[in-house]
Parts: sequence; structure tokens; C-alpha cells
Amino acid sequence: MIDLSGKIGLVVGIANEHSIAYGCAQAFHRAGAQLVATYLNDKAEKFVRPLAEGLDAELILPCDVEQPGALESVFALIQERYGRLDFALHSIAYAPKVDLDGRLLDSSRDGFARAMDISCHSFVRMARLAEPMMEDGGAMLTVSYYGAEKVVERYGLMGPVKAALESAARYMASEMGRRKIRVNVLSPGPMLTRAASGIPEFNLLMADAVERAPEHRLAGIADVGAMAAFLVSDSAAAITGNVTFVDAGYHVVA
Ligand SMILES: NC(=O)c1ccc[n+]([C@@H]2O[C@H](COP(=O)([O-])OP(=O)(O)OC[C@H]3O[C@@H](n4cnc5c(N)ncnc54)[C@H](O)[C@@H]3O)[C@@H](O)[C@H]2O)c1
Repeated sequence: MIDLSGKIGLVVGIANEHSIAYGCAQAFHRAGAQLVATYLNDKAEKFVRPLAEGLDAELILPCDVEQPGALESVFALIQERYGRLDFALHSIAYAPKVDLDGRLLDSSRDGFARAMDISCHSFVRMARLAEPMMEDGGAMLTVSYYGAEKVVERYGLMGPVKAALESAARYMASEMGRRKIRVNVLSPGPMLTRAASGIPEFNLLMADAVERAPEHRLAGIADVGAMAAFLVSDSAAAITGNVTFVDAGYHVVA
């Protein structure tokens, strides 16, 4: 039984009840954590707020990581309310559709830079803001995909972006280790979420995973949540810089 009671956790990336971040937030809440949740914009708020309220989140805040000062204001409000932070989940990604639809070779300079900023560097910025608030140590968690390490057809420019995210997590783990701040990456198998629906022919990726994964099934957000809760808990005190697959075993046969 994972115990997160007494811990304050930030969850960035809930869009709706299918979001991987929501599966993680449910597991954090079940384990007793006090959560802070963010939503992208006014349009997203009406979907996210009821879900976050259902998990007893006391702070439910707007955060578009592209907006200057948005992340800073989230961390300032957490500092004001709780005076510290124990863990943070970064479960966001974005690439302009036109760049995602084609080959990596044809991606635009601006589209690639934007995907990298939202999907990768925002995690670095989050960790930098979290660091002074994690005086007794802490845990940072982000979400990648198998396309970071192997070429997955139709994953296009997100492959190199996720590779950068995984590498960044390793460097961050090294840089923050002395402060007992652990940095880990989850790598879920394909699951139907809003972000995934932007990937061309995503249904084929899912069908392939069911056919070839050792368990012949898709992992779900609850599977990811269970691993996320473990990784931010004290039980994972010696685990940092890892990429942990939650994909019903697909990566061992793909
Ligand atoms: N669904 C899958 O098959 C799958 C598999 C492996 C990894 N992932 C990764 O999981 C993570 C979560 O995605 P998901 O599948 O749960 O989809 P989702 O659509 O539910 O979540 C994506 C989130 O990113 C947020 N976001 C996008 N741009 C943002 C910005 N500028 N500022 C702040 N937030 C922003 C959205 O608001 C949304 O909450 C992503 O990193 C994705 O690449 C997904």
C-alpha cells in the first residue's frame, strides 16, 4: 500500500477524465496526498475543475506553460498556501498539427521549437521552480513514449522531442540528486486520450500494441497511476533518472 499522506503534489496535465494525469492524480489522492491541479485555459477549466474538486484539490489554477509567468505564479501560490512541495507531475505535450502530420524532415523550425518548449523545456522550468520548495527532498515525474528510443511510424517530430525529455530527466536527476530530489519518467503504452487523437492513425498503434504486447492488452491510466504513486513515494527513494515502461510489455517485443 503506497502512502503519500502528508505530501503536497502538483499535477499539470489534466484535460479530462481520460487524461494520464487524471489517472495519476486519482492514485495520488487514494494514497493520501494533498493535490494542486492546473488547467490550460478557461475552456479547459469547466472539465478540469470538477475532476480536481472530486480529488479534494484546494488549489485549482490556470497554467499555460507558453505564457510568461504562468508556471511562476502556480509555484508562488503553492508556496503561499503550503510553504513547500513534495512532488510534481508534468504530463503535457503539444505539437502543431501540421508538423505532427508529416515527416520529421518536413517539420517547421517554429513547430519543432514550440513542441520542444511545451513538451520538454517546461519540465525543466517546473523543476527549477520546485527545487527551492523541496527542502526535504522530493520527486519530479514526467511522461514520455517508446517513440523516444525507437522509430515508431507516424510519431514524427514527437520522437526526438520525447528523447530530449528523457535525456533532460537524466541530467536533472544528476543535478538535483544531492538535494534528494528524484526525477523519473513514465513511458506508457498507447491509450486513447485527447493528445493521442492528434497522432495520425493512432488506432493502428493501439491495435499493434494489443496484438504484440505480451499481455495482449493496452495499459490504462490506472496502471500508469499506480506506478506514478509508487515513484513519488518514499518507497522509491533509490529510484531516479529511470524511464519506467507501463505498456503491458510492448517495448520488449516491439
Ligand atoms: N495517450 C498516449 O497514448 C500516451 C502514451 C505515452 C505518453 N503520452 C504522454 O502523456 C502525456 C499526457 O497526455 P495524455 O495522453 O494524457 O493526453 P491529454 O490530452 O489528456 O493531456 C495532454 C495535456 O497537455 C496539456 N497541454 C498542452 N499544451 C499545454 C500548454 N501550453 N500548457 C499547459 N498544458 C498544456 C493539455 O491541456 C492536456 O491537459 C503527454 O506528454 C503525452 O505525450 C501519451
